[in-house]
Amino acid sequence: MQIALASDHAGFAYKERLRQLLQEAGHQVQDHGAYSEESSDYPDFAVSAAQAVARGEADYGILICGTGIGVSIVANKIAGVRAANCCTEEMARLSRQHNDANVLTVGARLLPFEQVWRIVEVFLTTPFEGGRHARRVEKIHRLTGR
Ligand code: RB5
Repeated sequence: MQIALASDHAGFAYKERLRQLLQEAGHQVQDHGAYSEESSDYPDFAVSAAQAVARGEADYGILICGTGIGVSIVANKIAGVRAANCCTEEMARLSRQHNDANVLTVGARLLPFEQVWRIVEVFLTTPFEGGRHARRVEKIHRLTGR
């Protein structure tokens, strides 16, 4: 799969580790920054990765900041993006099954890396259930035209 990765300084170290693990797992990874632990502004990088997902240039996005909250707020401004900030594997599973989330956001200051990796694995391997959930997702799309 094509995965668009982005972080700010707080998520930089986790992004680097995720990139390596995702590549080892056979995914194509796009790195939308940040490129160091120097203080930076999460909207700059989150919007770039989210737009790649919305344009169909990436199958999924994974965004990391201190809490996962800032990058999720940014990503959900982009039409066609359904970003879910997940703290547990169960949240990741349900965000795919029920919400057809196409962007996962996580907080590097809240979760150990091993937990983040398990969340990522669940997110990338869980299909959307469709059915009644498709009707609800369609109603989300109508808010922005897609
Ligand atoms: C940066 O200090 C921090 O505010 C940012 O990483 C993120 O947690 C914002 O939501």
